[in-house]
Amino acid sequence: MKTADALTEISGRVFSMCLPPMTMGLGARQQLPRILSELDHPVLVVTDAGVSATPLFAEILDLLSAQGISTEVYAGVTPEPPIRVIHDCVSAAIDADAKVLLGIGGGSSLDATKIAAVLLKHQCPIDSLFGTDNVPGRGVPTVLVPTTAGTGSEVTPIAVLTDETQDLKRGIVSDFILPSHAVIDPQLCISLPPGPTAYTGMDTLAHAIEGYANRFPLPLIDGMALEATRLVAGHLRKAVHDGTNEEARYGMARASLLGGYCLGPVNTGAVHALAYPLGARFHVAHGAANALLLPHVMRFNAPVAESRYAQIAEAMGTNDAIQAVEELSADVGTDRRLRDFGVQRENLVEMAAAAMDVQRLLSKNPRDVTEADALAIYEAAF
Ligand SMILES: [Fe+2]
Repeated sequence: MKTADALTEISGRVFSMCLPPMTMGLGARQQLPRILSELDHPVLVVTDAGVSATPLFAEILDLLSAQGISTEVYAGVTPEPPIRVIHDCVSAAIDADAKVLLGIGGGSSLDATKIAAVLLKHQCPIDSLFGTDNVPGRGVPTVLVPTTAGTGSEVTPIAVLTDETQDLKRGIVSDFILPSHAVIDPQLCISLPPGPTAYTGMDTLAHAIEGYANRFPLPLIDGMALEATRLVAGHLRKAVHDGTNEEARYGMARASLLGGYCLGPVNTGAVHALAYPLGARFHVAHGAANALLLPHVMRFNAPVAESRYAQIAEAMGTNDAIQAVEELSADVGTDRRLRDFGVQRENLVEMAAAAMDVQRLLSKNPRDVTEADALAIYEAAF
C-alpha cells in the first residue's frame, strides 16, 4: 500500500490549468452589463424556477435591460440536469436567436449552460461529448454566476449530467467548456436556505479534502485546498445558521472558488465517485450525497492518507480530521444516512457496481477502491 508521502511525488508530471476571467466581490453583479456588453447579444439567461423567482434575479434582469441588453429567460433547469433539459435549453436559445448564454444558479444551471453553449455552436450529438477531451471546440460565449457556494462549476472544465435512459450520471471534461467570464457575488447566496447552504458547503469541503488527500496531488493546488478547508471550517456554520451574514457568505464564496480551482488539475476521488449512483438513481442532491459519504470514505482512506489528514485537521483547527468533518456535518444538518434518502439495503450491491464505472474519479483516490470496498463504504453509510 502506498504511503501518503509517496503520493506527493510529482517527478515527471506536467499539468495544465485553465482559469477563466473572474470578477468577485459583494455586489459584483453590478459588473454584468459591462461584461456582457463586451460579448455578443441577444442573451439567453439559463436558470431554474426557484432562482428565477427571487428578487435578486429580477434585479439582474432590470440591470441588464437598463443598459440596453435584451434577455430571454430559460428557467427549466432541474437538479442533476437530465440530457432532456440541455436539449430544451438549446431550443430556447435558438428560438431567442441567443448569441450568449448567461447561467445564473447552482451547479446544475451552470453545467447546463456550459453544455448548451457547445451544442449551439457545434452540430454534434450530446452523447459524443461525454468523457474527457471529447468537446470539439468552444461553444458560444458564456457568463456564469453562481448562487450557491458551492460546486465551483463557474471555474471548472467539468459538467455532470444525468442520462435518464440509463439512470446514470455522466461527466463531460474539457477546457472548451470553461466560461468566458465568471462573476461571483456572495450577496446572491444570501437568500439560499440553510439546507442547500449546508450541503453545497460540504461539497466544497469534499473538493478541498479530495483535492488535497489525492493520489496525484499538486503543490500548487495544495495551498488552495488547505485554504478552502480552513474557510469552510471557519464560515459554514455561520452561513447556515445566519444566512444574511455577509462575512460568512463571502468566506464560503472564497472557499467554493478555491475548491473549484482544485477540480481541473487534480479533481476528486471516491467520495464523488460513490455519490454518482445516489444522484442518478435516488436523486440525492450532489452536495448532500458527498456530505453523507465524506467521513466514511475518509475513514477508508485514512491508512494511506495519515499525514495529509493531519494537515486537513490542522486547517480545521483540530487534531482529528474525520471527527472535525463529522462534527461540522452534524452542526449544519448534513449528517444523514443512505436509508434517509429511500435507499434500501438490497440496493447497495448494484450501487457499488455502478460506482465502479466512475474510474475517472476512483483513479484519483489515494487508496485503491474495489467493488467490495465500495460496498463496505455504502454499508457503513447505510
Ligand atoms: Fe462536488
